[in-house]
Amino acid sequence: MENKNMVYIQSGGPTSVINSSLYGAILEAKRHPDLIAHIYGSLNGIEGLIDGNLIDLGAEDSEQIELLLQTPGAILGTTRRKLPKDFHDPIYLKIIDNLKKHHINYVFVNGGNDSMDTCNKIAALVNELGLDIKVIGVPKTIDNDLACTDHSLGFPSAAKFVINAIHAFAMDAKAFKKGKVHIIEIMGRNAGWLTASADLLPEETRPHLFYIPERPFDLEEFLVDIKKIYEEKGYALVAISEGINFPRDMSRVRVDSFGHAQLGGAATDLCTIVEDRLNIPTRAVELSLTQRAFPAFISLTDRTEAVRTGEVAVQSALQGITGKMVVFKRISTYPYIINYELADLDKVANAEAHIPSSMMVDNTRMSQEFRDYLSPLIEGEVTLKCKDGIADITRLKRIKVKD
Ligand code: F6P
Repeated sequence: MENKNMVYIQSGGPTSVINSSLYGAILEAKRHPDLIAHIYGSLNGIEGLIDGNLIDLGAEDSEQIELLLQTPGAILGTTRRKLPKDFHDPIYLKIIDNLKKHHINYVFVNGGNDSMDTCNKIAALVNELGLDIKVIGVPKTIDNDLACTDHSLGFPSAAKFVINAIHAFAMDAKAFKKGKVHIIEIMGRNAGWLTASADLLPEETRPHLFYIPERPFDLEEFLVDIKKIYEEKGYALVAISEGINFPRDMSRVRVDSFGHAQLGGAATDLCTIVEDRLNIPTRAVELSLTQRAFPAFISLTDRTEAVRTGEVAVQSALQGITGKMVVFKRISTYPYIINYELADLDKVANAEAHIPSSMMVDNTRMSQEFRDYLSPLIEGEVTLKCKDGIADITRLKRIKVKD
């Protein structure tokens, strides 16, 4: 019998548990050597499959595979490249050629909304060509904006980081009798889940104001509120999503192939406005990549689910399922129970899930429904393996798969 192989693709922005899903998929694949002969990794997302840059993950040492559980970034490399609409595009010839050449029967794409567009296109193409290749999506995005699922992998750990970072920051910010207006910028282009997560903090460290893309931002109202809080408390703590709408200079903003602007700098812009208009000292804080990479605040719940999702993806493909993404259905919050289910890729691809209005109260608080939703997701701590005080990371041999 001809070899049946699998290829795993990481795509879009990394999360602190994206490599944990890869770990789960490798573990599960190794449990079925009769069904999966080789476990390949595609370098830099779909680009590896286009250019034939595949590595043999089965040849990696188990100690290094174990370290995937605490390794930030996307160990295989990632991309934000969008595949063309037209299946006659020469890129698809290259993808099909590599799938056939390397006897790949199972394709896994681990990513967010845009990456599920890639996954969906590959599933549709192989189906159209009548190839026996199963394609499954593995969800992840710190933005938590994937449709059809209770939550997205990576979001709980990023939320846990944001919550704890602001908790510590707030204690420092309030230490001075007369402090500053601190504006903390958190990732999330069109969805404010991560920013809203700081609502879980106790009153003494919770931001005074929250601004998320789901709610309109009124600059004049913002200035009035900031002034009032500063005069009352001697400092102000504000959490904003990078994507909130206010007059800012977009002329130098870069746009990716999915048409998304690379944001960043909103806190700095708003601080300038506060200084100019209110003459109050400010500090702009951009949590930036740290929020999706920081391993010490990985939520154990998130990591456990990430590993399990990798396993479920491989099991589903081996059962002959294709064109689906693994999703979570919440059965109960207290105790927290979820089921792993599957959703059609074409329902997930390019859709966006926002915070429902029932979870929002106003610019100062989210609702109890939101807190109940988030609380179980950030539960559980991880212990990092360290060498000389530095968290250890996976180092792969990256043995290239020969043509
Ligand atoms: O993948 C989601 C995300 O982390 C967003 O929250 C953020 O806007 C974006 O990626 C940043 O992407 P990049 O690192 O490519 O600038």
